[in-house]
Amino acid sequence: MSDNRFRALIILCIFTFLTLSTASSDQQFCSIDSRESGCKIQNWLHKDDVTVLTVATDENHGLERYLRSARVYDIDVEVLGKGKTWTGGNMNYAGGGQKINILKEKLGELMKTEDKDHIVLFTDGYDVMFLGNMADILAKFKAMPDTRVLFAAEPFCWPDAKLASMYPNTEVSNPFLNSGGFIGYLPEIYEILNAKEIKDKDDDQLYYTKIYLDKNMRETLKISLDHKSEIFQNLNGALSDVQLRANSTEEWPYIENVATKQRPLIVHGNGPSKLTLNYLGNYLAKSWSMNEGCTLCAEKRIKLKDDNLPTVMMAVFIEQATPFLEEFFQQLLDIDYPKNKIQLLVRNYVEYHEAEVDSFYQKHSKDYATAKRIKPSDFISEAEARNIAMERCVNSVCDYLFAIDSVARVEKQTLRYLLSSGYDVIAPLLVRPGQAWSNFWGAINSAGFYARSADYMDIVYNSIRGIWNVPFITNCYLMKIELFRTPAAKSVTYSKEEVDPDMAFCASLRDLGIMMHVSNERELGHLVNPETFDITRTHPDVYQVLDNKLEWEKRYLHVDYAVNFEEGREHLMPCPDVYWFPMMSMRFCNEWIAIMEAFGQWSDGSNNDKRLESGYEAVPTRDIHMSQVGLERQWLHILKEYVRPLQEMVFIGYYHNPPVSIMNFVVRYRPDEQPSLRPHHDSSTYTINLALNTPHVDYEGGGCHFLRYNCSVRNTKPGWLLMHPGRLTHYHEGLLVTNGTRYIMISFVDP
Ligand SMILES: *[C@@H]1O[C@H](CO)[C@@H](O)[C@H](O)[C@H]1NC(C)=O
Ligand SMILES: *[C@@H]1O[C@H](CO)[C@@H](O)[C@H](O)[C@H]1NC(C)=O
Ligand SMILES: *[C@@H]1O[C@H](CO)[C@@H](O)[C@H](O)[C@H]1NC(C)=O
Repeated sequence: MSDNRFRALIILCIFTFLTLSTASSDQQFCSIDSRESGCKIQNWLHKDDVTVLTVATDENHGLERYLRSARVYDIDVEVLGKGKTWTGGNMNYAGGGQKINILKEKLGELMKTEDKDHIVLFTDGYDVMFLGNMADILAKFKAMPDTRVLFAAEPFCWPDAKLASMYPNTEVSNPFLNSGGFIGYLPEIYEILNAKEIKDKDDDQLYYTKIYLDKNMRETLKISLDHKSEIFQNLNGALSDVQLRANSTEEWPYIENVATKQRPLIVHGNGPSKLTLNYLGNYLAKSWSMNEGCTLCAEKRIKLKDDNLPTVMMAVFIEQATPFLEEFFQQLLDIDYPKNKIQLLVRNYVEYHEAEVDSFYQKHSKDYATAKRIKPSDFISEAEARNIAMERCVNSVCDYLFAIDSVARVEKQTLRYLLSSGYDVIAPLLVRPGQAWSNFWGAINSAGFYARSADYMDIVYNSIRGIWNVPFITNCYLMKIELFRTPAAKSVTYSKEEVDPDMAFCASLRDLGIMMHVSNERELGHLVNPETFDITRTHPDVYQVLDNKLEWEKRYLHVDYAVNFEEGREHLMPCPDVYWFPMMSMRFCNEWIAIMEAFGQWSDGSNNDKRLESGYEAVPTRDIHMSQVGLERQWLHILKEYVRPLQEMVFIGYYHNPPVSIMNFVVRYRPDEQPSLRPHHDSSTYTINLALNTPHVDYEGGGCHFLRYNCSVRNTKPGWLLMHPGRLTHYHEGLLVTNGTRYIMISFVDP
């Protein structure tokens, strides 16, 4: 913004500033939200009076977040130590005596040019965010009684707990000094920094603590601690006091210290509270709001150039037997991205899937820029395989690694969306439909395992949308590979004893300060649930109706099933009160028959039937019961979910939910076995009869004849369901099959 634009307003501003700066209550000052122009101008007025400093030798995600928060509140920060080698001790964030020495040098320069009223604000850089503008910070500082230098405070006396007894006042809530933030007048701070020598690797907090504990220095330099977190909020040890207020439509999210009733203006994720800051950072500094959603997301977005797309390694992991793998491979082929920009790596660890994987690989690998596969027979562990993918990408012309597990099902646009998000490590939110199981953790407990964050369910159920900084992602994610080409990133690994590969990996990213994100800005896919997938079954996917409904319906319901329910639809009725619906796909019929034939134990067609409680069947057929092939539960579910709604639509006024059916079986008719069935009533309220194969192709003859109406249904269609009343009116017989084999699936519903 140019100064000229504000010239006309300056007089008003000075007036406003003078009025407000004499007010003792900070509440009258501009709120955290400085959208009002008045606040902006106050900031501008103050800029020359304050120097804001941090020390950061590396650039990382924490520093990026810090600097963004400063920009949001119009605070100019000077980053000291950029590019210097960190010698301040073995920490992966700024800390240690080197900070003091770097700062000392800078303040020496300031002493030459600035007057004694000049103010210096110092904060750490990697784990700090600004939550308010400079005017608010200064107003609070200046209102502190008898204070020329104010340090942040915390509940732990660190690094030397023995010093606790030397503190003048330990009766307050945050009795001890924290050196992650301080504000004060230049001469006093300069004196503090020059009081003693400090080695780069000595502890800076200890240095400041000793000065504070020196009564003489404390009193002459007027050093105070921010016990109430009026400006500085340290998160470590304060989590129960600090509440995130993010559900207002009136103002931007903020934190409140409920113990001291303050709205802190600078927050510090000190020590182990870094992950808490990551969580809060999703909302704070105008990153997100109820009204505007994820404002931060939009700031980072980049536009992909189709003539200059990044090269992506797509690393596919099949670690466990996975339902609907065929659809998984189809989705890989459908991903909207040029295959000559994709390096393919397919790792399969499941012998059962190897034939399918092989066929995919043989057919398609040549379409990709490069291709590599790891087979079950290579005996490579999951962690090793994932390390290999990473190394291959790091050591080749590869810009991003897109890892995708066989349980992940993503939309075509997912890869492009993730690439254009501008985030370095980002996963699409994938959830098992209808469950709270997803591919991220919102929080992590001290042992490194799953913990639920306050917003976990809101994210999983898309009650709030955005891109969320989280401590753990899995199953599908994109990573900018440049991050892993630094010397420090050599520590990144999927291999750690007794720990899942993804947990080991995410832990090493957290240790490096690499932030992980999950996006639910829009729908990007879901997870299939492999838990009940039983590969000892013939066609195990067809057993998955309860656990993987989306895939199951897509593959196994008739394409016109939904058409049955269209408004004003006339239902086919080939005989009186015999309805006829498209219900299951051809694929369902074929797999259903194959399951029966693989099982093979058809009943003998006699009246003696051990499968029945009574042991006696009056009208026997050659059949296999669903309970014999482990499909009873699935079939009852199909009756409830897909048959019952049809029944309720045509036999109006009859409700029985769930439908009860004891007899569910596939019948086989053929000339040399049992070719027909004599007239009978069914013991059911209604009977369903699903044709599984095709007349004139698979067999000749067959059909169902209803004697009372002298009406037959002969040209049955596979996947089409006949539904008719069971007793009294619908006395019926199975017509003679003269050639081939006819299969039908029968249920006597509500006997
Ligand atoms: C907002 O959250 C607070 C607690 O954090 C809760 O007491 C309040 O009812 C919530 N308001 C709305 C509108 O959800
Ligand atoms: C039944 O219908 C057939 C034609 O569909 C006819 O030939 C036959 O005579 C009818 N039988 C009776 C008893 O009505
Ligand atoms: C029975 O079907 C087979 C093929 O399925 C065919 O070869 C044969 O000719 C048919 N026989 C009769 C009598 O229709």
